[in-house]
Amino acid sequence: MHTVAVLSLKGGVGKTTVALGIASAALRRGTRTLVADLDPQGNATASLDPPYTEATLADVLETPHRAVLQRAIAPSVWSDEVDVLVGSDELELLNEPGPEGRRLENLSRALDELHQSPTRGRPYDLAVLDCPPSLGRLTRSALVAADSAILVTEPTMYAVSGAQRALEAIKQIREQQNPDLRAIGVLVNRLRVRSHEHQFRIAELRESFGSLVMPTAIPDRLAIQQAQGACSPIHEWNSPGAQEIALTFNMVLAKILRSDRAGRHRFRAEGESEAETTGPVERVRSTNP
Ligand SMILES: Nc1ncnc2c1ncn2[C@@H]1O[C@H](COP(=O)(O)OP(=O)(O)OP(=O)(O)O)[C@@H](O)[C@H]1O
Ligand SMILES: [Mg+2]
Repeated sequence: MHTVAVLSLKGGVGKTTVALGIASAALRRGTRTLVADLDPQGNATASLDPPYTEATLADVLETPHRAVLQRAIAPSVWSDEVDVLVGSDELELLNEPGPEGRRLENLSRALDELHQSPTRGRPYDLAVLDCPPSLGRLTRSALVAADSAILVTEPTMYAVSGAQRALEAIKQIREQQNPDLRAIGVLVNRLRVRSHEHQFRIAELRESFGSLVMPTAIPDRLAIQQAQGACSPIHEWNSPGAQEIALTFNMVLAKILRSDRAGRHRFRAEGESEAETTGPVERVRSTNP
């Protein structure tokens, strides 16, 4: 199982959208997926609309045992192939500053437990961790548990400093707790291709982070909001805008799976070579410039 954390410093830049987009691409590809909703707002849970569960991720983080996991995981409304580790507002209490240590590792323990003895059906190939909008304890516990991390940003004024701080957090967790953690890249969301401001901000990001800025950005499209509102995977939303975005998420998923060469639970996409992961980035573009 490969575990990817989707994070950003700022709220509302598209973490949940990206987490759901990756899960949608995984569903299309036949990759069995668990979406863990670490955000007390519970937006990923709302969009995936699982049936009521007796426990939530807040309980799992307190007690990372199989029995608790079993009660906190349910199938999404999308498909039996995409499950949800359900979020709740009680997570807010676990985001507060306090003594670090064991608790920060509990998500990692829970996911290890899941890997060793799956709770529902066949084992997961992918776990997607939707983080809250801060670098607090919940996001850090996601980074401790993850094989890889994606930073989401909008192409706006503070994008560079935000990405810088998030990358520093990744580096710190890698040095202190999780040497396997790698940054997949900075994914730009809500790009308006004709906006000079957006192109300027992307140039700024590329100047600072080079090829870490993912070559394909997600355009600003109403289809995203429509699909989320209808609790539908973007790959099943029938509009040209949705199809364009679905292709982008296929590329993001491929990049995640390719990054897993040294992951804790090795999982390689079919028919790919190592060289594919490291090509130079020409320029940031949307799939339909
Ligand atoms: N590319 C896009 N085009 C159009 N709307 C988008 C796009 N990306 C995100 N949105 C919309 O913007 C809003 C915020 O997105 P989202 O919930 O994914 O952000 P977030 O970073 O998870 O927010 P939070 O920090 O509150 O968790 C949502 O209503 C979503 O539908
Ligand atoms: Mg969110």
